[in-house]
Amino acid sequence: MNNSPASRIDELVRDLNYHAHRYYVLNAPEISDAEYDRRYRELEALEQQHPELIKEESPTRRVGAPPLDAFESVAHRIPMLSLDNAMSEEELVEFDERTKRFLEKSDLSLPSEIEYTVEHKFDGVALSLLYREGYLERALTRGDGVNGEDVTTNVRTIKSIPLRLPEEGAYPYLEIRGEVVFLKSDFEALNEKRVARGDDPFANPRNAASGSLRQLDSSITARRPLTFFAYGFGDSEAVSLPGENLADMKFISELGFRVSPFLQSVKGGKGLVEAFRQAEDEREQLPFEVDGLVVKVNDASLREELGTKQRSPRWAIAAKFAAVEENTKLLDIVLQVGRTGALTPVAVLEPVQVGGVVVSRATLHNEQEIRRKDLRIGDTVIVRRQGDVIPAVVAHVPSARDGSEKEFVFPESCPVCGATAEKPEGEAVARCPNPKCGAKIVQRIIHFVSRNALDVQGLGEKVVELLVDEGLVSDLSDLFHLEKEKIASLPRMGELSTQNLLEALEKAKHVSLAKFLFALGIRHVGERTARIIAEHAGTIDNVLKLTEEELLELPEVGPEIAGSFASFLANEEERELLVRLIDCGFQFQAPEAKASDSLAGKVFVLTGTLEELSRGDAKKLVESHGGKVSSSVSKKTDFVVAGEKAGSKLTKAEELGVAVLSESDFLSMVKER
Ligand code: IVH
Repeated sequence: MNNSPASRIDELVRDLNYHAHRYYVLNAPEISDAEYDRRYRELEALEQQHPELIKEESPTRRVGAPPLDAFESVAHRIPMLSLDNAMSEEELVEFDERTKRFLEKSDLSLPSEIEYTVEHKFDGVALSLLYREGYLERALTRGDGVNGEDVTTNVRTIKSIPLRLPEEGAYPYLEIRGEVVFLKSDFEALNEKRVARGDDPFANPRNAASGSLRQLDSSITARRPLTFFAYGFGDSEAVSLPGENLADMKFISELGFRVSPFLQSVKGGKGLVEAFRQAEDEREQLPFEVDGLVVKVNDASLREELGTKQRSPRWAIAAKFAAVEENTKLLDIVLQVGRTGALTPVAVLEPVQVGGVVVSRATLHNEQEIRRKDLRIGDTVIVRRQGDVIPAVVAHVPSARDGSEKEFVFPESCPVCGATAEKPEGEAVARCPNPKCGAKIVQRIIHFVSRNALDVQGLGEKVVELLVDEGLVSDLSDLFHLEKEKIASLPRMGELSTQNLLEALEKAKHVSLAKFLFALGIRHVGERTARIIAEHAGTIDNVLKLTEEELLELPEVGPEIAGSFASFLANEEERELLVRLIDCGFQFQAPEAKASDSLAGKVFVLTGTLEELSRGDAKKLVESHGGKVSSSVSKKTDFVVAGEKAGSKLTKAEELGVAVLSESDFLSMVKER
């Protein structure tokens, strides 16, 4: 084996890019964040010692460019067109008819129904990526469609955009077009942070994406988790693309880009309408915002025949979903108490249908936000659904005022327990300081048992409120001492639901340490941070011993998180609660232990009949050393383990020059490690 720094750097860059693709594009990580970080730091150290060996596509090169004075304006080689809109199902059917009529004038032989591809219309910022010889050279915004802004340094920080394409994409010049978006969850987390810091929240994920992409200092963009979805090719040289749009998109996804998960082909107007209805139904479940479907004629020759009009092609249309903004009346503003005591003003609205859902409440974030939008009780307001179905009040309608509107006075005490609210210097949010406040307890329990935390089925908000109101539960640990008769005595809790709840609580004790730490609802400790801390500590006993200094050493853990976690551990009441919880009999499930990472980044294919090992065991063995098992042989395969009667995979491995191991070769290879 070649152990030179150059080959190790090469190996690490490939390995880290592979894992970043698994994480950011495929959403299927194979290694822990801590392990990724360890390898990243090894690469960083090696690059520092050997700057001449730094590779263009190294993940460390995503950040570190000096801030710009302005963005350079650059002409698009092919203008970035826009799309015509279809605002209803009828208009979608008309599009199909119009397309057919146009094509019937040509002498092309037409199928009885035209085939279209459908994919999401992303509600983000359009972007063109230029790859030269397979390397990302330049990224341009759409601008006015003719000239765009050069945002390359910012775009390099977006992890779902490959800095280097695999061999198949290393054309002299290749342009990929798509949309930069903020995932709903990332958007909500960003706004929460901004509000806590006293900054204005972004109105919607699109504004957040646009604002983040147009930062002159790319280190700011790097801290904003943007995501890129590709939707097509732009200008390309010497490229033979499949041509059919569906195949083109498949090729794009093989180059390492995320594409719309809805992508499929359908036939005729009827097919379009069915797809549209399905997409609209599924829209809320998506992790990102879409405002419709984009329909494209699948066949390249038909697209060519159809051509383009002034600003938009004839072969595509955007089918827009129903509006997500409506006007309604602001009836009142009430305070909601969160699990950390945050007092959040909530708008009580005259119920209104927004994009198919009735909205009657919307968060107003904090007092400053109400002042900024100058919201008064009685105002007519614009309500928009954004993020994860979360409705927001965008603005008031000045022309609708008649003078009867009333200003909102922020109460000085907690609306639930009456304690005087506190607002520390420099913070935008007022809080209830009372640890025994009933509302805080309810919120804390709701978080504790929620899906991404302990995931206790059958313990919804209403039941939690009842349990607390009836005095059956006054902290998290009480949940595990609930008596059957007491639960069954609650309204609407039959015998079966009581039994199910008790079983669900029992099951919840077998949660992972990471989920448990997240479930505790410690300020600033989200799922990812909880996982990093759990991976580091390993056991709950070690968690109890963690110090602020030790926490600060962990990847992605800054002073805010470390401070918050450490003061949680130092707080006597919280510590006692933790001990009471542990005494309830939690058995934390460890993530699968790894024997080593010696096969990290290596891809194995198993074929033929193995003698000593079952296929399953062999797979486990590879994975326990950090390797990966794939089902088909390609250039990316490192080893093929061939047993008896190995067939086409062995032949393919030989053709491609992939190393072939016998079962005993494989076993001794693993044993040596
Ligand atoms: S295809 C010829 N596909 O919508 C134009 N556009 O008005 C080809 N957009 O700003 C565009 N999602 O950035 C296409 N799946 C998708 C899209 C999409 C969003 C944006 C695009 C453009 C606007 C078109």
